Amino acid sequence: MTLNKLALCFVALFALELEGIASMPKQNTQCTTEEFRPRYHFSPAEHWINDPNGLIYYDGVYHMFYQYHPNDTIWGPMHWGHAISTNLITWEELDIALAPDDLGDIFSGSSVVDTTNTTGFKTDNGNDPIVAIYTSASEEGFLTQVQSLAYSVDKAATFQKYVNNPVLRDENSPDFRDPNVFYYGGKWIMSLAVGNKIEFYGSPDLKTWSKLSEFGADPQQGNHDGVWECPDLIPLIADVNGDGTKLDELWVLLVSINPGGPNKGSATQYFVGNFDGTTFTSFTWSNTQWMDWGPDNYAGVTFSNEPQGRALVVSWMSNWNYANATPTSAWRGQMTIPRTLDLVVVNRTADQYRLVSTPAEELQELRNPLHYLEYNAEINVLPQSIINLTEQAAFSTPLMELEITLNISKNPEPSFAICAHNTIGEEVCFGYSNAEYYLDRSKTTNTALNTHYTGALVSKAVREATEEVISIRMFLDVSSIEVFADGGLTTMTAIHFSSQPLDKIYINNWSKAGSSAILKVKNFKVYGLHCWFAEREGAVTTPTTVTPTDPPSAAAQYQVFSLGTIILLSLAHWVLY
Ligand code: FRU
Repeated sequence: MTLNKLALCFVALFALELEGIASMPKQNTQCTTEEFRPRYHFSPAEHWINDPNGLIYYDGVYHMFYQYHPNDTIWGPMHWGHAISTNLITWEELDIALAPDDLGDIFSGSSVVDTTNTTGFKTDNGNDPIVAIYTSASEEGFLTQVQSLAYSVDKAATFQKYVNNPVLRDENSPDFRDPNVFYYGGKWIMSLAVGNKIEFYGSPDLKTWSKLSEFGADPQQGNHDGVWECPDLIPLIADVNGDGTKLDELWVLLVSINPGGPNKGSATQYFVGNFDGTTFTSFTWSNTQWMDWGPDNYAGVTFSNEPQGRALVVSWMSNWNYANATPTSAWRGQMTIPRTLDLVVVNRTADQYRLVSTPAEELQELRNPLHYLEYNAEINVLPQSIINLTEQAAFSTPLMELEITLNISKNPEPSFAICAHNTIGEEVCFGYSNAEYYLDRSKTTNTALNTHYTGALVSKAVREATEEVISIRMFLDVSSIEVFADGGLTTMTAIHFSSQPLDKIYINNWSKAGSSAILKVKNFKVYGLHCWFAEREGAVTTPTTVTPTDPPSAAAQYQVFSLGTIILLSLAHWVLY
């Protein structure tokens, strides 16, 4: 090889590396090494967060406000923290948007763009006001939770409290909070969590409210084992034939409940039905429907003013049962990836519709083009055998997205698990057995956060789909797993605290030996994902080393075609010939 060619090789490889970095908007080149720090999920640089609040798109920017305690890593006097993004991947933390005042702390709520200036808040600068509607919560006096307004006329850079706050109070309801507002039928509509039901209010100007109706007082309507919180009423269209020829225009009411979730703590249930501008009527069904069946998906609400009209939801990735006990140091709390909600028909004559959740399509930009593994031939995974899916990967990272399609036999069905793992035996698995999916974080190092966490190491979800083909999409970050099965019909989300990165993936057919149950991998793709959370001054830095080698698996039965391999082979060919 000539020196020229050698030099060109280096230039080519360097250019490829740069291309990977350049394809990521605002990509930070130096990833944090802080223990448990999410690498691509939003978490605050410091201190406590819980619910996402006031999610709104305005003038090219997605704004995420959130419950924030600026002085501690446990829940306390709530403020609205503020972060912005133009791509739904990288978030920039800004100054606190709303701080406590005489009416109390700033609890959860929503925000809207007042395009027709119903509030009169618009100024000469011409910007449409952004109005935040939130709960003022005070421990003092009889009226502890009331609804207040704050508005911004400088594109959410600063907010002013409305002088005549509060705008809504009810002396008889101690749990009276989390207003979620949208414009419909010529007026503003507010959904409000009151005890364990939802009340709807109407207003011409966001300042004066009158009660329209309520939903959920009937104990038959969903789960009532806890307090209802953070409602969101969303119009969604179900495409009945899948070709746009018949559309059912319906409404979905999200209601978070704590406790009472399928894993005993916090979770978000939903109701599908109709809304006529005054009253929400839900279709009845026997089982409570959960937006996500894992232990760590709570208080999810959608963006207001979303430019593509999507129902784009972000949830707090934790659970009140142990949120204050997670083993992070400088910060505590993180958000899910943004997901699009859609409605599908299960049985139209029986009025059965289901929510499906899909990762926001923007997240494809997270994929590092240099870290890609694809296999498209069928692999038969025999009972009691394991296939190391990432064994031949030319990269090693705990930041992964997996897309996998499986084929299972019916009668008998196989039991299997797909696990992110490491060489010290830690693993987090998504599995299937007895017509149920499960998420299992029991084999991680930090499992004794408190008794609730220890009691929720394994969560389960009934598989609604009945097909022999199972499609699974999985997002893995350093301390979380988000799974979208059957096109998002079943989603499961969990945080976990492994001591080493889970940077390998295997599939385990654990059907009993000699079982005639069949499990086939039809194809899979593994994407290494970019990291955007840069090293920060003062961040706790525990090295999270990546294990360089993995013992070859006797069970590996496949060839690997990674982009890196292809590029290197092409270069070698060019150099030699
Ligand atoms: C939900 C919630 C809300 C409340 C906020 C307080 O997680 O309890 O009902 O407004 O958190 O931080």
